[in-house]
Amino acid sequence: MATLLREQVTEVHHWTDRLFSFKTTRDRGFRFKNGHFTMIGLEHQGKPLMRAYSLASANHEDELEFFSIKVPDGPLTSKLQNIQPGDELLVNSKSTGTLVQDNLLPGKHLYLIATGTGLAPFLSIIRDPEIYASYDKIILTHGCREVDELAYQELITEHLPRHEYLGDDVREKLIYYPTVTREKYINNGRLTDLLRCGKLERDIGLPQVDPEQDRFMICGSPTMLKDICGLLDQRGFSESRNGHIGEYVIERAFVET
Ligand code: A2P
Repeated sequence: MATLLREQVTEVHHWTDRLFSFKTTRDRGFRFKNGHFTMIGLEHQGKPLMRAYSLASANHEDELEFFSIKVPDGPLTSKLQNIQPGDELLVNSKSTGTLVQDNLLPGKHLYLIATGTGLAPFLSIIRDPEIYASYDKIILTHGCREVDELAYQELITEHLPRHEYLGDDVREKLIYYPTVTREKYINNGRLTDLLRCGKLERDIGLPQVDPEQDRFMICGSPTMLKDICGLLDQRGFSESRNGHIGEYVIERAFVET
C-alpha cells in the first residue's frame, strides 16, 4: 500500500533561473526501479500538493534526487524552488514507470533520448550496472535550448567515468551527446532532426539506427515524444505498450506546474 514518506532536503542546486535539482534523505523501505517516477511534493494549506517526478538517483544510492523546472506561477514549483536543506519533502512510497529495461526487447545499443528535465530518469539509468551488462553501448542524448541548461555534465563526463564500481563500464560503453538549439555549441539542432538525417549516428560513430539492434527510451515534452515516435515508427520500430514488448518506450517529462 502506498504511504506518504516525510523526507528531509539535504542539498539544493540551482542550474539556471529555469532549472534546479535537490537531494533528500531516503526511507530505507522506499524501493524503486531505475527509470521510475513517483509523486513528490510539499504540504500546502494543510494538504499534500503533489506532482509526478522521475527519480534522478539510482536505486542503490542512499539519497533521493530530483531535477525540476521552475514555473513562476506553477502551483508546486513556484514553492518548491525555494526549498532549503532541512526542509521537508513529501514522497509517495509507490513508484512506477515505463522506462525500464524489462519493457524492451534485448538489443545491442540503448539510445536514451532526453530534452530538458527529461534527462532525470536517465541519470538513474546510467548508474544502473544491469544496463551496462545488457548493452554494448548506451547513448545518452540531451537536447536543450541553451548551453547552461545542459545540467549534470560534470557527473556524466567526470564523476561517472571515475566511479569506483561503474567507471570501467562507463568509459567503455557510455556515449554522451549533448545538443543545443538556440546558441552555438559543439552539437547543434533538435534530436529529431539529428536522427532524421543520420548526423547523430555519424557523430558518435555508430551505424544508422535499426530496429534489429537498437533500442530507445525517450523522455521529454509531448511534442518531442510525438515527433520521435513518428520517426521511429517510420523506420520500423514499435512502441512497447499494452502488453506488447517492442523496441522503444516513452515517458513524458512530467512537471510543468
Ligand atoms: P527548440 O529550441 O528548437 O524549441 P524546452 O525547454 O522547450 O522543453 O525544449 C528543450 C529542447 O527540446 C530544446 O532544444 C527544443 O528545441 C527541443 N524541442 C522542442 N520541441 C521539440 C520537438 N518536437 N522535437 C525535438 N526537439 C524539440
